[in-house]
Amino acid sequence: METVLEVEGLHTRFELDEGVVHAVSGVDLTIGRGEVLAVVGESGCGKSVMARSVLRLVDRPGRITGGHVRVRTDDGMADMVTADPRTVRAVRGSRIAMVFQEPMAAMSPMHTLGNQIGEAIRLHEPVTKAEARARVIDLLGRVGIPAPKRRVDEYPFQMSGGMLQRAMIAMALSCGPHLLIADEPTTALDVTTQAQILDLLRSLQQETGMAVMLITHDLGVAAQMADRVAVMYLGTVVEDGPVEDVFRAPRHPYTKALLRSVPKLGSGSRERLRPVRGMVPHAYRRPAGCPFHPRCDEFMAGRCDVRAPAPVTGPGRPGAVSCLLYEETTR
Ligand SMILES: Nc1ncnc2c1ncn2[C@@H]1O[C@H](COP(=O)(O)OP(=O)(O)O)[C@@H](O)[C@H]1O
Ligand code: SF4
Ligand SMILES: [Mg+2]
Repeated sequence: METVLEVEGLHTRFELDEGVVHAVSGVDLTIGRGEVLAVVGESGCGKSVMARSVLRLVDRPGRITGGHVRVRTDDGMADMVTADPRTVRAVRGSRIAMVFQEPMAAMSPMHTLGNQIGEAIRLHEPVTKAEARARVIDLLGRVGIPAPKRRVDEYPFQMSGGMLQRAMIAMALSCGPHLLIADEPTTALDVTTQAQILDLLRSLQQETGMAVMLITHDLGVAAQMADRVAVMYLGTVVEDGPVEDVFRAPRHPYTKALLRSVPKLGSGSRERLRPVRGMVPHAYRRPAGCPFHPRCDEFMAGRCDVRAPAPVTGPGRPGAVSCLLYEETTR
C-alpha cells in the first residue's frame, strides 16, 4: 500500500521554566492510502502534540527536536520537519487537513461560514468569489448541513456544536486532502451527535478514499472506525497493529489495562471494570527505563526501570509492541 504519511522518531518538547516537557518522545507510525488509523491513549499522552507536529502547528514554546514527518506530495515525499514554509503551506492546503475537538476555536467568530470556508478555498485555488461560494454551499450539503444556501451566510455562534463540527469538516474537505487528521472530533458533543459525526466521517472517507488519523481516548470509537490502531503512552507508540488483533489479543500491558477499563466491546458483559492503575505522570517527569513501569502489572524490577524497550515486530502478526516481555534478547 502506498504510504501517505510516515512519522519516524519524532520528538517534540516544550522548554518551560519548571522543566522540559517531553510531549512526543520518539513516535513512529505510518498511514497508507485510504487507511483509517486510530491513535488512542489516556489524556496527556501526547496525541494532540504529535498530530500538530505533523502539520508544524505546535504552539510556542513547543519545538520539534528530532525525527521525520514524511508526507507524499506531487514531487515525492516531503519532510515537514525540514521543509521550507512554502512546502509546509502547500501540504496544509492540499494534502493534510485537520479538525479539532473545539470547532469554535478553529473558526473565526467574525466571518460567515461562506466567507471563511470560501477564503480557505481561494487561498489554494484560483477561483472567483462566486465559484468559491457555490463550492461552499455544495460542501455544506455534503456534510449534512440542512438548507446550505441559507446556512452559508450564518456566523459560527448561530450554529449548534454538531453543525459547527460539520462545518469544520467541510472546511477541512475543501482542499481535497489525502489525509484528514481528526483530533477528538466528537468529544465535545452529546452522544447522539457524536454518532452522527462519526457516521459522516466514515461515509466521507469511503466516498473520497482519503486516509484518516482519528485521535480518540474512546476505544469503542477506535474499534468501530479504524483499520489499524496505534496506542500511545507518554509520547511514544507502545503497540500498533490491525484493530482486530490489538483489541482481541493485546500484547502491551498498557493496552491490556486500557481494554480492562472499558466495557467489553460489543458484548454487554458485566465483568468488573478496572481503571488503569495510577495516573499518567506529567511529561516532564518521564520515568527511566520503560515509561509505563510505575503502573505496570508485569513490571520486572532491575529490567523495566533500567532499559527502555524498543519496538518488536511479529511473530505471526503485523504491527509492533514496545515491551521488554517481548524482546528475545533481554537477559
Ligand atoms: N502548549 C503547551 N505547553 C506546555 N506543555 C504542553 C503544551 N501542550 C501540551 N503540553 C503537554 O504535552 C503533553 C502531551 O499533551 P497532549 O498532546 O495534549 O496530550 P493528549 O492529546 O494525548 O491528551 C502533556 O503533558 C501536556 O501537558
Ligand atoms: S517493559 Fe516492563 S514495565 Fe514496561 S510494559 Fe513491559 S513489562 Fe511493563
Ligand atoms: Mg488531545
